[in-house]
Amino acid sequence: MIDLLIYNASQLITVKDSKRGPKIGEEMLDLGIIENGAVAIDKGKILEVGQSSELVGKYREAKKKIDASGCIVLPGFVDAHTHLPFVGTREDEFLMRLRGAEYVEILKAGGGILNTVKKVRKATKEELLKATKAHALKLISSGVTTTEAKSGYGLNLEDEIKQLEVLRELNEQGPLEIVPTFLGAHVIPEEYKSDRRKYIELLENVVMPEVLKRNLAMYCDIFCDEGAFSLEESEEILVKAKELGFKLRIHADEIASLGGAELAAKLGAKSAEHLIKVSDRGIELMAERGVFAVLLPGTSFSLRKPYAPARKIISAGVPVALGTDFNPGSCYCSSMEMILQLAVLGMGMFPEEAITASTLNSAYALDMGDRVGSIEVGKQADVTIMGVPNYAFLFYEIGRTHVKSVIKRGEIVYEAQGPYY
Ligand code: NIG
Ligand code: FE
Repeated sequence: MIDLLIYNASQLITVKDSKRGPKIGEEMLDLGIIENGAVAIDKGKILEVGQSSELVGKYREAKKKIDASGCIVLPGFVDAHTHLPFVGTREDEFLMRLRGAEYVEILKAGGGILNTVKKVRKATKEELLKATKAHALKLISSGVTTTEAKSGYGLNLEDEIKQLEVLRELNEQGPLEIVPTFLGAHVIPEEYKSDRRKYIELLENVVMPEVLKRNLAMYCDIFCDEGAFSLEESEEILVKAKELGFKLRIHADEIASLGGAELAAKLGAKSAEHLIKVSDRGIELMAERGVFAVLLPGTSFSLRKPYAPARKIISAGVPVALGTDFNPGSCYCSSMEMILQLAVLGMGMFPEEAITASTLNSAYALDMGDRVGSIEVGKQADVTIMGVPNYAFLFYEIGRTHVKSVIKRGEIVYEAQGPYY
């Protein structure tokens, strides 16, 4: 007797991990769809995938059955980029931006990221945990079952550790699976404003080794941009991080074209993220080194900036993943569904590409592709059921959520009411 059978899915979108790696270029169009599909799940893993006509008889005795008639079934989304552990919101700055203030000007005046840093430092670990848990639930309710999450609102030893410990605790509690990233180099904190070197040295000599010693993160990220860290500073910090044993990610070419993508390729980073202003050379080098482009169309939309050149990036053969960039400043959006819609309707990706980028490719961007990101025998049973008859509907009908059920390691962790078709 198996734990769960999902059957009668109008489209079972497996995403088919045939290469055991990210899909590139035209491969992204192949969703491995099974019409009238079924998935057999046992002990948190996928046991069998196939036609309902075969699996329904075979697993008649399943402990639980979900009739997914009129619905599509797809891998739980993997959000490749968030700033999950924070407290407080910044809608006042949002209003300032609507009236013409620039994101980076607000930051330079001591607001923006620094505004949230003040709140996170003041919060107790329990308060931060409570807020972060609420953020995690928001992600789950939009079909996300695994997410990356960055620190970067502590900007000192104690509070960066506090953020990462909160992520560890939340990951242990579940159901959202969290891949932590250390982002101590988010901006220079207020108290080191007149001595940037001192903060960089603190990161390199104290905070980064401590994060590794406590095994709190295996990725190190940096905000390489105007108002944050220069290209030279970024290179120095990332080289040090790599020496210490971190894998690298870079917030690159978001506000200004500093050459973060080129740097990511030079250092063999796992990913360069944002890339609104990436250069053609940067794209070429990323393709050569297999650096993931983590694209964040919610940020472009929320900041009313151009979108990253997704078509160029895909055509060049760069592996592309998607993320919400969920954070209280540049993109207060936890809806992965909306991110997929913006990827298609704003950034020019095709629906199939957006689905691949937010499941299989984002899983590989987090080195999790062997366990999640597709519906295949042996992978973790992380599944989202959407109340739409086919995947085109996810993009066609906008402005409301389609998430019906979210399943993590074989357990139903979220259910919504509809209405569905
Ligand atoms: O990815 N760019 C840097 N960090 C975030 C914004 C963080 C914030 O505004 O609080 C981003 O957009
Ligand atoms: Fe970000």
